[in-house]
Amino acid sequence: MQFLKADNSSIAIAADIINRGGLVAFPTETVYGLGADGLNPIAVASIFEAKGRPMFNPLILHIAEKDDIYKICEVNNPFAEKLIEKFWPGPLTLVLPKKNIVPDITTSGNTTVAVRMPNHPVALELIKKAGKPLAAPSANAYGRLSPTNAGHVLNQLGNKPDIILDGGDCSIGVESTIIYLGSSIKLLRHGGTAIEEIEKITGRLQENIHSLKPDAPGQLPYHYAPSVKIKFININEKEAYKSMKTSAVFFSKPNSPELFKSVKVLSPSGNMKEAAANLFKVLHELESEDVDLIVVEPVEETGLGKAVMDRLKRAVKKYS
Ligand code: TXA
Ligand code: MG
Repeated sequence: MQFLKADNSSIAIAADIINRGGLVAFPTETVYGLGADGLNPIAVASIFEAKGRPMFNPLILHIAEKDDIYKICEVNNPFAEKLIEKFWPGPLTLVLPKKNIVPDITTSGNTTVAVRMPNHPVALELIKKAGKPLAAPSANAYGRLSPTNAGHVLNQLGNKPDIILDGGDCSIGVESTIIYLGSSIKLLRHGGTAIEEIEKITGRLQENIHSLKPDAPGQLPYHYAPSVKIKFININEKEAYKSMKTSAVFFSKPNSPELFKSVKVLSPSGNMKEAAANLFKVLHELESEDVDLIVVEPVEETGLGKAVMDRLKRAVKKYS
């Protein structure tokens, strides 16, 4: 395994690894991805193996030119092109009918494929140099926190990737928003593109984000959980907080910090974008501190706050 700062020469090495069927962890603006040649079924199989991810959970194909979408799917929904025009490159994934060139393993047998064009120079350069779409889930072990820097990837996946490209911290910090564009349009996952912005184009969206038989396992009721128990803060339980090693995560201002062993703030200036970017980072930090319980303050569910609360609710659900 090579751990290299992302630059022209390490990206060229990584592209070569992709073309030989290997695994590359790389930065995007949302979270780090674990990429392989998305059109090579054996390479894609090694992604599932490295993450310990169930084969029923399909992968996103990442492209570097908007027009490459026509090579891998049928762009047959009237809103698709408008969404691409407005939000690509960026944290929006579109699910459309797949073309035959996309192997079934990439889509877990679904007739649709998820596609996005990331807004990160390293990711775009890697895809261009490799010359093919990269299948890439978030570069975490299955069910664990998503990585927002290269160190997070190393901690969870060790030497499973052939190379980790270090491109610093992810600017968005939560995964892409996923929209299904079939005969109806549905929201499958809240994420880095605010739903209010998408609805300006599509009109009100049907939500299909909680499902026990999910189309997208990001829809599973629990997911994205830290290894330490996490709950929403409840000031009636303050005696319990004092009696154990409790850490608290606040949106912008700590409340009763004396109750806690440590206190984290997602955005001192109260900016939701900054809070989203810091969310996984703070949870990764707390996983490695000696604490028994994490309590977290809910944030307002508008804009990116919806993606933040979605991640937090699923994490809390795992321990409830
Ligand atoms: O921001 C992101 O989207 C990151 C970066 C690396 O691009 N990727 C990411 O991938 O979050 P992953 O695999 O962790 O989450 C992708 C989600 C999964 O919940 C998967 O089930 C869903 O997308 N998905 C993929 N293909 C799908 C399809 N054909 N239909 C419905 N859902 C799909
Ligand atoms: Mg993931």
